[in-house]
Amino acid sequence: MARIAMFNQKGGVGKTTTTLNLAGLLARRGVDPLVVDLDPQAHLTSVCGVVVPRAEASIYGLYAHGTPLASLTCSTRNGWKLVPSHIELSKVDSQFGKGPAVLGRLAAALDREPAERPVLMDACPMLGVLSLGSVFAADGVIIPISTDYLAMKGAVQMERTLKALEQVLKRRVPRRYLITRYDPRRRMSADIERQLRARYGDEVCATRIAENVSIAESPASSQDVFEHAPASRGARDYTELLDELMATGFIRLAGREAKPGVRTPPPEARTALNAALTTKQKMTAQRGVATSLKLVQTRRAGT
Ligand SMILES: Nc1ncnc2c1ncn2[C@@H]1O[C@H](COP(=O)(O)OP(=O)(O)OP(=O)(O)O)[C@@H](O)[C@H]1O
Ligand SMILES: [Mg+2]
Repeated sequence: MARIAMFNQKGGVGKTTTTLNLAGLLARRGVDPLVVDLDPQAHLTSVCGVVVPRAEASIYGLYAHGTPLASLTCSTRNGWKLVPSHIELSKVDSQFGKGPAVLGRLAAALDREPAERPVLMDACPMLGVLSLGSVFAADGVIIPISTDYLAMKGAVQMERTLKALEQVLKRRVPRRYLITRYDPRRRMSADIERQLRARYGDEVCATRIAENVSIAESPASSQDVFEHAPASRGARDYTELLDELMATGFIRLAGREAKPGVRTPPPEARTALNAALTTKQKMTAQRGVATSLKLVQTRRAGT
């Protein structure tokens, strides 16, 4: 499997950091990954130094006009290709609804890309078309769990979301929980690791990503950790992670096998998802969309 979504509806857990560093390492190993920034915050896009002149030139173009990914793809100085994001992306849910055609749009677009090309998707920290669509498009999901307050709550929420999606997809979504920002001096880190391993067993990566200053600093110079500090603990951890994911077959670079079960969301997807997600989750998703829209309006007012 070579299409991986980085997804956790909890914010600030390391989704973008993990996408950046796995993409950088794959590129260093001679693979040419395609990275899709699905977060209206566009952090990954700005770390790569990509400036998107208008929303239509970002992944928003796919949702608004069905623009093929090939026309939206930019080269990054880090050596891999990026489909960038734009703040207007926060309007996707309200503009295009959550129907099956919209939820399956990214999957359909990626199906038109070369099958052997690995794809990494950086999802946004809320439930909506963009994040749920990334799961529909993915062969597997990496769920970064930062070992801080409320980490387990985030993990349980993710489990609930994936269960809801699985009812629609009619297959289990392969997943790996990835412990991030691990600090051996903090008892909370060890407690969270213990709870995660007890609850999710082999689905928790053996590799932990330690709290590391080079990981935190590298985006400021538009670099991944391998360029910024190749001998750092962070570079070692992400190398170990990719090696583990490849050794266990979670990331398979030699082409993709056809996925069993439903490939694109069926017409009843919307109803099934709505029924399966709790009211609280739906409220969180709606609040997320509202906040993003407010951000767009504020930015507009300021320009
Ligand atoms: N292992 C690490 N060591 C130190 N800092 C880290 C580490 N991983 C991530 N960070 C820092 O934590 C912050 C959040 O990380 P990141 O942006 O990757 O999270 P995210 O899940 O993508 O957030 P969001 O939900 O807002 O998209 C960033 O400032 C990042 O540099
Ligand atoms: Mg992010």
